[in-house]
Amino acid sequence: MEFIPEEIEAYAEKYTQPESKVLQELNRETWSRVMQPRMLSGHLQGRLLSFLSGLVQPDRVLDIGTYTGYSALCLAEGLAPGGKVHTIEVNRELEHMIRLYIGKAGMEDSIALHFGEAAELIPSIEGPYDLVFIDADKENYPRYFDLVVDRVRPGGMIIADNVLWSGNVLKPAREMDAETSALAAYAKKVYDDPRVESLLLPVRDGLMLARKGDG
Ligand SMILES: C[S@@+](CC[C@H](N)C(=O)[O-])C[C@H]1O[C@@H](n2cnc3c(N)ncnc32)[C@H](O)[C@@H]1O
Repeated sequence: MEFIPEEIEAYAEKYTQPESKVLQELNRETWSRVMQPRMLSGHLQGRLLSFLSGLVQPDRVLDIGTYTGYSALCLAEGLAPGGKVHTIEVNRELEHMIRLYIGKAGMEDSIALHFGEAAELIPSIEGPYDLVFIDADKENYPRYFDLVVDRVRPGGMIIADNVLWSGNVLKPAREMDAETSALAAYAKKVYDDPRVESLLLPVRDGLMLARKGDG
């Protein structure tokens, strides 16, 4: 399901800061050479990630689900001097492409790439985190939230992608598959959690923002 008519999306992109040359190239190369290119955040969402990161000016970002590195590169744009994006990917076949584009962007010192199962690696990546982007396997979203929420600093943010799952989250529970159920459970869990303030944005496939309170 497309949430926004194509012409409106194009208009929004027209008046949104363009992608850097490197991100444009990565976007193109992902679409021409990698399986499931729709997974890449893309121009508009990428600019939103960069914008939010620029507002937070994080020292430490956790990016769960690197894919070809697009979100990690966008999030790294807003880092405070000396800050770092820790990005986690389970698929080793993507390593060459990820490293190639981190190099092209000159971000070698700003992005640390970790390979393995996210749930196993997260506890070993030191916090506190200023910003977390959850965009890996959908069934584990609630688990990822539980693993990070107490390690996000007050005022820090957890962003989760695909929370609308092409509109499938609107189906009756009995018709949902495992991914849809997990995404629906994620939105409810975050909304009900008094530690965070939540905001679900119908951007692309749905982005859920959760801001950690001071308490
Ligand atoms: C939607 S893509 C990420 C897109 C990327 N964040 C972007 O914006 O361009 C999801 C990625 O998560 C990875 N992934 C899936 N399950 C994982 C797991 N258990 N641990 C780590 N990475 C995982 C997949 O291999 C895939 O590359």
